[in-house]
Amino acid sequence: MGFGVYVHVPFCARRCDYCDFATWTDRHHLMEAYAAACVTDLRRRCDTGPVPPATSVFFGGGTPSLLPADLLLAVLDAVPRAPGAEVTVECNPDTVSPALLADYRSGGVNRLSFGVQSMAPHVLAALGRTHDPAGVERAIEGARGTGFDNFNVDLIYGAAGETLSDWYATLDAALALDPPHVSAYALTVEPGTPLARRIGVGEVAAPDDDDQAEKYLAGDAALSAAGRPWYEISNWARPGRECRHNLLYWEQGEYLGIGCAAHGHTPFGRRWWNVRTPDRYIDLIGQGTSAEGGHETLAGADQEAEAAMLAIRTRGGVPSTPKADRLVGDGLAEPRDGRVVLTPTGRLLANEATARLL
Ligand SMILES: C[S@@+](CC[C@H](N)C(=O)[O-])C[C@H]1O[C@@H](n2cnc3c(N)ncnc32)[C@H](O)[C@@H]1O
Ligand code: SF4
Repeated sequence: MGFGVYVHVPFCARRCDYCDFATWTDRHHLMEAYAAACVTDLRRRCDTGPVPPATSVFFGGGTPSLLPADLLLAVLDAVPRAPGAEVTVECNPDTVSPALLADYRSGGVNRLSFGVQSMAPHVLAALGRTHDPAGVERAIEGARGTGFDNFNVDLIYGAAGETLSDWYATLDAALALDPPHVSAYALTVEPGTPLARRIGVGEVAAPDDDDQAEKYLAGDAALSAAGRPWYEISNWARPGRECRHNLLYWEQGEYLGIGCAAHGHTPFGRRWWNVRTPDRYIDLIGQGTSAEGGHETLAGADQEAEAAMLAIRTRGGVPSTPKADRLVGDGLAEPRDGRVVLTPTGRLLANEATARLL
């Protein structure tokens, strides 16, 4: 099994109304110190224990593409990497320039993930995004022109004012960009976000379950027909273009979390996470101490339950057992090669399927 390194980059130009990720718009002055702390953290880990060569590195955010390329690449250079490692950087379409992409390319980045969300201007506005569809096309043309043939587009469905035909138009326009990988998420209302407040006072309609279910099925059909079958509930890819880093998460693999709010996992079920703010992370690393904010160890039945919960969300499914076979009888799953795999309806009801399985 592989070994992953996740690096969290907690800076954004502007906070989107729906987002509750660990990210800040007023701490850009910390970028240099933050990248230096990530490098120190990595070096210290390499000095104090064996860090296996990473088979995948993922810069997530926040908006990693807001970091000056030399800072991001300095962190990447501090990660011991296996030959052919997958190296992904999450990008907002309006933060990538040809020069930035060229620096990424020559520095070892080989996969990009664009936060596209929608290709309908009024939906982008409703989500509080700063880019327009033309900006997405420019960014992806730029990526191709720089030699990036492996990239993802993130989409969100179910925002207020998005009709079914808007969603079809987004799928068509996204597929016209020929992305090897697509992640499509149902808009969720996270407590404490501007979106939650606006829904609370009746200014914006809450996402509708039936609308999102219809859009999920429409998306699954369109993406599958375009040669990108699902491989996890919210992820579709051309065969061979699945995200190796995400597969590691779903297989309860081993990964290291670098930076504030980053999570790590060891093969023995120990899960840990770093302190949430960049300021605290920089301070703790500067003091020569661990930036770990908490941990838990899953063992026995808990670990098995988590493995089943993650596995059932993937195309590999779970082994056929009397309980798993009941999902087939319920119409939520189908048998495949001695395993039980969710049907599209089962994927819509994945939490229910998991509860029945456990
Ligand atoms: C860290 S962001 C991606 C990179 C970059 N910050 C951007 O937004 O362009 C990860 C993805 O999570 C998804 N996401 C974030 N909050 C969400 C929410 N409340 N509901 C559904 N999807 C969400 C978006 O699709 C987003 O692109
Ligand atoms: S969705 Fe992306 S750009 Fe928007 S606030 Fe969250 S991390 Fe930042």
